[in-house]
Amino acid sequence: MRRTTVRNLFDKKPIGEDILVKGWVKSLRKSKTFCFIVLNDGSAQKDLQIIADESLAGYEDFTKCLVGSSLSIHGKLVESGGKQPIEVQASAVEILGTTPQDYPLQKKGTSMEFLREIAHLRPRTNVFGAVFRVRHELAQATHKFFTDKGFYYLNTPILTAMDAEGAGELFRVSTLDPNKLPLDKSGKVIWEKDYFGKESYLCVTGQLEAEAFACSMGSVYTFGPTFRSENSNTTRHLSEFWMIEPEVAFADLEEVAELGAEYIQFMIKHVLEKCPDEMALFNSFVEKGIIAKLEKVAATPFKRITYTEAVDILLKSNKKFEYKVEWGVDLQTEHEKFLTDEHFKGPVIVTDYPKEIKAFYMRQNEDGKTVRAMDILVPGIGEIIGGSQREERLDIIEAKIAEEGLDPDLYKWYLDLRRYGTVPHSGFGLGFERAVMYITGMSNIRDVIPFHRTPNHIDF
Ligand code: 4AD
Ligand code: MG
Repeated sequence: MRRTTVRNLFDKKPIGEDILVKGWVKSLRKSKTFCFIVLNDGSAQKDLQIIADESLAGYEDFTKCLVGSSLSIHGKLVESGGKQPIEVQASAVEILGTTPQDYPLQKKGTSMEFLREIAHLRPRTNVFGAVFRVRHELAQATHKFFTDKGFYYLNTPILTAMDAEGAGELFRVSTLDPNKLPLDKSGKVIWEKDYFGKESYLCVTGQLEAEAFACSMGSVYTFGPTFRSENSNTTRHLSEFWMIEPEVAFADLEEVAELGAEYIQFMIKHVLEKCPDEMALFNSFVEKGIIAKLEKVAATPFKRITYTEAVDILLKSNKKFEYKVEWGVDLQTEHEKFLTDEHFKGPVIVTDYPKEIKAFYMRQNEDGKTVRAMDILVPGIGEIIGGSQREERLDIIEAKIAEEGLDPDLYKWYLDLRRYGTVPHSGFGLGFERAVMYITGMSNIRDVIPFHRTPNHIDF
């Protein structure tokens, strides 16, 4: 007989049928002549209640099983008079694996910090099971959203020689022995002797490669791991995170700003529909009122302001910020938080940032001071999307690459996109973990990725 999942049982409710379920014990309560087992198999938020009579073979042994033990249970699915609509009348219970007293996930509440230390066991908890089922649905929603709009899914390289954001936050990839580096006469490393024949890194974005495909297939999106060695020990930064990057030929900034807002709203609606049990848990135990908040966000157009307007709002707010606000500085988390949490009380799209604080590939505005950049900020998180219209004019981007001191040889192919049939095009990147945080209400980015990588942490 094949195993059925708990999700399947709650979906189909095959009352009266013989079934086989397997899972982990959430609780086991023994009364005089029978016992109650609460089983979870991770397929759904819901637990399955099982009633096992004392006449069953092995009764004395399996009723000794502690929380976290794994069981295989044959039985009949019956209607239940209790809180759940169904339960199982067991006909055979087999122990798959027992658990000693020191199982770290006992029923009582455990802190998020402690659970991070047992990241291999935490998906067995209610909260983490819910987070990772929602994460799955967000990935499905992403593919559905872009596929339905005619985008092609593209896998861009993870190994690269380019610092595509120009921010110097690269992880080096090398096969050279650090104790026997090939050095030239002046003591510099001869990178020609390294594996790829030049300095190589893990990607900080797939954007530049996605541009090549947008400028041929029209609309593409990437969805892959991204690596940044920024030394930010915050609740919103990871050294390894996942990013979705749509890139659209013939589109201007307005078009992708709208696309970004629509994408976020689509993800929200998808999860509210597909994960009601998980959302109910977040609503009660993680962020009170999150369902109503998300329903409103999904139904309300996002506010739009320019960077210059944002700076004006911040200056007029009379709020004491730790970082001083003046035209030209990058917006800090506290500034973004003021805009989303206090001023607009919702998501806001900020456009046209000063060129000095943004990447070389962004299209210059006529004013000579700003570029066609946009960030989408959401309450509680800050920046969830960063994007721009790309500089499609060959002479201007050539000058910019020279100005930033980037190696022109590395960007030759990128300039070809402007040399041969250049077109206006735009795109953005959405930080997948930040989206999971926003939609679950989880407050630390370390708790929405299976195993987190942050400065000084690469366990598991
Ligand atoms: O704003 P960023 O740096 O933009 C880019 O990488 C562009 N190439 C995107 C594009 O236009 N195709 O990063 C995009 C998003 C941010 O808005 C943020 O949500 C997320 O990626 N992000 C991070 N998420 C977690 N940890 C980090 N260290 C992150 N850095 C960026
Ligand atoms: Mg950004």
